[in-house]
Amino acid sequence: MHVATSAPRSSAAWWAETRTDPERLHAWLFAQYRGEVTAAQRIVALRDAHAAPDSRAFRLLTVIAEQERSHAEWVGELLRARGLVAEVRGAAEARYWQQTLPGIADLATGCAVGAHAEAMRLERIAAIAGDAEAPPDIREVFARILPQERFHARAFGSLTTPESLAATRAAHELGRALLGLEA
Ligand SMILES: [Fe+2]
Ligand SMILES: [Fe+2]
Repeated sequence: MHVATSAPRSSAAWWAETRTDPERLHAWLFAQYRGEVTAAQRIVALRDAHAAPDSRAFRLLTVIAEQERSHAEWVGELLRARGLVAEVRGAAEARYWQQTLPGIADLATGCAVGAHAEAMRLERIAAIAGDAEAPPDIREVFARILPQERFHARAFGSLTTPESLAATRAAHELGRALLGLEA
């Protein structure tokens, strides 16, 4: 499937534009807050729908969801320290998730959807955590988040199959292209 989009910008180029513009920076922080809050909710829903209690998958998804809740708290603290109210505004990357969530039929496809999304997020978080010119408060939080997001990408990946990754890839790439249009 092909969608006409502008050329995707690299994470580094995108971040260089965002970090120097307070309005964009705060809009982006709100989006991160919303993303972390809703990630925890989605992962618990996936676990409860498709993972057998007492299974490795159930335990892994529980740990990932707990870490996403911590991330939401950390980003919420960043917002409050900047005099903003930590609240979920708007729909969570609706154009992305509308593409990928319908592809979830079982645990393997659910974790494949998660693995694709976590890998995409890692790129942006790594760009921020690695940027010596990022605002120090933001850089510190994302440097703390980064290793846990790496763990999420690996953990989700360990619960997938080559078939489930392949079956969910086109929807991920379409969703990613649509997100690029919104950024
Ligand atoms: Fe997270
Ligand atoms: Fe994550």
